[in-house]
Amino acid sequence: MEQIINEILNFLREQRGYDFTGNRLLMLERRITKRLSPTKSNSFEEYFKYLLIHSEEMDKLINDLTINVSNFFRNPLVWEYLAKYILPILLEEKKARKNNSIRIWSAGCASGEEPYTLAILLKEQLEKENINFTIHIFATDIDINSQLKAEKASFTFEDIKNTKLGLLKKYFIENSDHFELKPEIKKMVKFSKFDLFDNKKYSPPGSIFGSFDIVLCRNVLIYFKPDFQKKIFDKLFRSLNRGGYLVLGEAEVPIEKYRSKFKRFDKCCKIYQKR
Ligand SMILES: C[S@@+](CC[C@H](N)C(=O)[O-])C[C@H]1O[C@@H](n2cnc3c(N)ncnc32)[C@H](O)[C@@H]1O
Repeated sequence: MEQIINEILNFLREQRGYDFTGNRLLMLERRITKRLSPTKSNSFEEYFKYLLIHSEEMDKLINDLTINVSNFFRNPLVWEYLAKYILPILLEEKKARKNNSIRIWSAGCASGEEPYTLAILLKEQLEKENINFTIHIFATDIDINSQLKAEKASFTFEDIKNTKLGLLKKYFIENSDHFELKPEIKKMVKFSKFDLFDNKKYSPPGSIFGSFDIVLCRNVLIYFKPDFQKKIFDKLFRSLNRGGYLVLGEAEVPIEKYRSKFKRFDKCCKIYQKR
């Protein structure tokens, strides 16, 4: 099984430049199995033959392998912590140092729900304190289709289901079957394609340098084998400022090598501060 999966992955890498070889085997097996029935294949070998002659199937497979599920205010407790503690602390520290710029990176941002959520919270906090800050939010993903959807910023009810009514009314325009994010939030986030396994760059190219105050990398690491998680962590760690915050997904923790280099902010959620 592993051999045919590797052949499929090598083919995807040669044809489209997507490298899924670091993904966990069980996850790959499950995802490729999902493609058997729609392509009327009885085995992975048969599916590979189908893939070789149906280029449109490649997009469907890549789409299934990238797993870009997300939504606004996903795992609401994390966002409450960010809004109530992290953002006010960060702004206070910045004001004390007479630095009025904040740099954020959302790594593996899917269709923008995560960076936009943070943009909304920052806007709210700045409004509450009646202060002006220059906000740079860089949001990256390997999946170009996600980026296009993010830039369109038109969301379904499923995408916004965790959003509080007050924020929904304030920052979205409701249409018959979708919610459009207002330009004031849209313009706060800069999207680009960036592969977290890019050997040449540590931080998103558009950001020029790292120096981030907050890095979010949620529900990305879980899909990768430990060696590959390490490669991602090297980037996250190097891009973060000292004292900066790393926000992981609910099922994720810093890998062994980095455990002592971070302090957990609170046991309730996966927010870590770089020592
Ligand atoms: C499950 S989504 C997580 C979205 C969001 N962070 C959240 O927690 O709601 C995982 C995202 O990681 C992206 N991804 C997977 N491999 C990647 C890689 N090598 N480089 C950058 N992004 C990647 C996928 O395209 C997908 O959008």
